[in-house]
Amino acid sequence: MADDTSAEVSEPRQNTKAQPNTDLPVKEHILMVNDLPRGERYYEAMKAKIRPGDVVLEVGTGAGLLSLVAASLGAKHVYTVEQSPVLSRVAEKVFAANGLSDKITLINAHSKDLVALDLIHEKVDVFVTETIGSQGLDEGILLIFEHIKPLLAAGARLIPESVSFKHCLVNMSGIRERVEIMQPVFGFDLSALNAELESNLLYWLNPIEPWREISTVGETRSYDLLNFEPGESTQTCEITSTNICDGMFTWAEFKLSDEVVIDTRYRHLGCNWANSVHFMRRGMVEYGQACSAQFNVTDDKLGWTINWAIGPC
Ligand SMILES: C[S@@+](CC[C@H](N)C(=O)[O-])C[C@H]1O[C@@H](n2cnc3c(N)ncnc32)[C@H](O)[C@@H]1O
Repeated sequence: MADDTSAEVSEPRQNTKAQPNTDLPVKEHILMVNDLPRGERYYEAMKAKIRPGDVVLEVGTGAGLLSLVAASLGAKHVYTVEQSPVLSRVAEKVFAANGLSDKITLINAHSKDLVALDLIHEKVDVFVTETIGSQGLDEGILLIFEHIKPLLAAGARLIPESVSFKHCLVNMSGIRERVEIMQPVFGFDLSALNAELESNLLYWLNPIEPWREISTVGETRSYDLLNFEPGESTQTCEITSTNICDGMFTWAEFKLSDEVVIDTRYRHLGCNWANSVHFMRRGMVEYGQACSAQFNVTDDKLGWTINWAIGPC
C-alpha cells in the first residue's frame, strides 16, 4: 500500500453515525456501577463543581449513582431524568434505601420532553450526564445538551464540558482473518460476504483480542458540548513501527472538569466502553511515515466521519 512515492494511499472511510443506544439492559447497569474508575472520575469532577445549595440536574439516572453523589455533596435539590420505566423504578428504590428520596426528584421521561413537562421550576446550577457512547457521541449526548439548555442558570457548570476524538493506526493480525473473508474456505470463494458486512467498516474490539498500536496518537480539536459547532479538524500521527496496517483505532475523550478527563478507550477489566477499529485496505506502512486524518463531526449530532491518508513525511 504505502511506498515512498505515494502521497495518498488509503481510502476515505467511515461514518459512525448510529441511532442513540439509550435503552441498556439492567445487567449493563450493574457492569457500569461496578466500573469504579469511571465512577471515580465523575465523583472527582462533581466534587470540584457542585457547591452546597446548588440545584443539580442529571439526565440518564440509570440506577441513580450520580444523583446520590450529587445529593451527598450538598446539592439543595437534584432533579434526575430517566427514560426507562424499569430503571426509574430501580432508582426510586435506591434513593429510598439511601435515605435521599426527599433530596432527589426522579422524572421518568425522555430529555426531549423535559421543557414541555414543566416539572423543574428553578434554574439549574450544575448539569451532569454520563450518556457517553463508546465512540463519544453515539448515545445522543449532544441532543441532550440541546434539550436541557433552556433550564440552565447563567454560568451553569457542566459535567462533561467538551469532547475531543483521538486515533492511532493499528495492526490486527489474527483478528482480521476472522472478521473478514480474506482467503477461500475449503477452496470456495465466499468473498461476496465482505461487501455486505457493516462491521467491515467498524469493528468493535473485544478486550482479549490481540492488536498493536503502530503510530503515535492524534487528537482532534475540542468540541464544546453546550455550544456545539460541527466541523472538520485535521491531525497527523506518525508511524512508529514498520508493519501491516489494518485500520484506525478511535476513541473519545471528555473533559469533566479542569482536573478530570474520561475517555472511552478500553483500559481495564470491567471497563464500560468498547474499543473500535475502522478497517482500511490492508498494507505495509513504514516507520516515520505520516498519517493525516480529517474528523468531520457531523451536525446530526450523533456521529462523525473520518477520512485519512498515509504518505511519506
Ligand atoms: C450510561 S447510563 C448512565 C447511568 C448512571 N448515570 C451512571 O452513571 O451509572 C445512561 C442512562 O441514560 C438514560 N438515557 C439516555 N438518554 C436519555 C435521554 N435522552 N433522556 C432520558 N434518559 C436517557 C439511559 O436509559 C441510561 O439509563
